[in-house]
Amino acid sequence: MILDIIDKKRVGKELSYKELDYLFNGYLNGDVCDYQMSSFLMAVCINGMTDEEVFALTKIFIDSGDSLDFSSIPGIKVDKHSTGGIGDKTTFVVAPIVASLGIPVIKMSGRGLGYTGGTIDKLESIKGYKVDLSEKEIMKQVKDINFVLTGQSHDLVPMDKVIYALRDVTATVKSIPLIASSIMSKKIASGADKILIDIKVGNGAFLSNKEEAKKLGDLMVRIGNIYGREVRYVISDMNTPLGYSVGNGLEVIEALDVLKGKETSNNFVNLCIDLSSEMVSMGLNISKDEARKLVVKSIEDKTAYNKFLELVSYQGGDINNISISNKKCIIKSNKNGEITKINALEIGKLALELGAGKKNIKDKIDYGVGVRLNKLIGEKVKKGDTLATLYVNNKVPNIDIDKIFTIC
Ligand code: URA
Repeated sequence: MILDIIDKKRVGKELSYKELDYLFNGYLNGDVCDYQMSSFLMAVCINGMTDEEVFALTKIFIDSGDSLDFSSIPGIKVDKHSTGGIGDKTTFVVAPIVASLGIPVIKMSGRGLGYTGGTIDKLESIKGYKVDLSEKEIMKQVKDINFVLTGQSHDLVPMDKVIYALRDVTATVKSIPLIASSIMSKKIASGADKILIDIKVGNGAFLSNKEEAKKLGDLMVRIGNIYGREVRYVISDMNTPLGYSVGNGLEVIEALDVLKGKETSNNFVNLCIDLSSEMVSMGLNISKDEARKLVVKSIEDKTAYNKFLELVSYQGGDINNISISNKKCIIKSNKNGEITKINALEIGKLALELGAGKKNIKDKIDYGVGVRLNKLIGEKVKKGDTLATLYVNNKVPNIDIDKIFTIC
């Protein structure tokens, strides 16, 4: 039976709900082995899935665990998800902006096995910040301060955790149907009324072109329709790292700088404003232009910054105690010219080598290490100028400057 199902996908035939349920729940309870599921996932990567199969898979994922219900909280709950990128700390800017404008934000995020930690790892760089709130604590907090940023409960889509871990080590992440069902099952089970997806495209992302991103976005909109959730998506560039910092504590500090109004225009700030405007438009049922004015004001008058401070203090964190290594190493320019490219993938790999992410599940993330760019694309540099500062712990990898920076 299991072999028949795998073989059916190998030849590109459509599987029924019953067949998918048998296979995936069989994997969860140990009847299907890793190598059988790996083989099936690779067949999906190659042959794809029909909409009906993706809808069935999303339901199987959701039904594998609990679903949260926040209908007793007044207001439209809007959630955001990014498909993942290098230096992607948008949640720390976007979520407080949205919450500061009266829209309840209950965001449950994950950890990362990529080049740096995930949102939860980044939050753990703030000393004392509690990332494992119970459902009861989440409810109390959202009633008290309208804003929660916590880890995903163990009971929420457990199927995604095991399947994602397998995809990660079998080169089967890059599949539109698998990405869509993975993301949408988590977002639907976490109880949001409306969902915004930030789909990254570029060498530091899972998708390499806009056509694929649009296909993924449209599919997620169709999944959302089935569950009565409005889904919008934004396609954003991931050929260049977002902003200046890549690394857990460094990224939180950069987000704080944006909320303090210290940085007002670069690829990171611009994306944060765009995503926040979309979410506020969804949450308040207003146009994106109207929303943008509110968003900009919430940064300018520091209400969003104060909301973030309120969140950190409510969840036990000390905002003045963020892990940053005090051992630094400077990367200098080897020529004069203008920076025309900063390679996101290479910066991600460098951050990983420094210890900001995990190469293996058992690795421990070093919250204090990472890369801080001193210059962004478009800036002129002279030979000897500092291009980037590495925050290191014990090991400094070999660096090929010309692979990271293109200076013409
Ligand atoms: N993010 C997810 O949550 N799942 C995927 O499959 C890819 C990105």
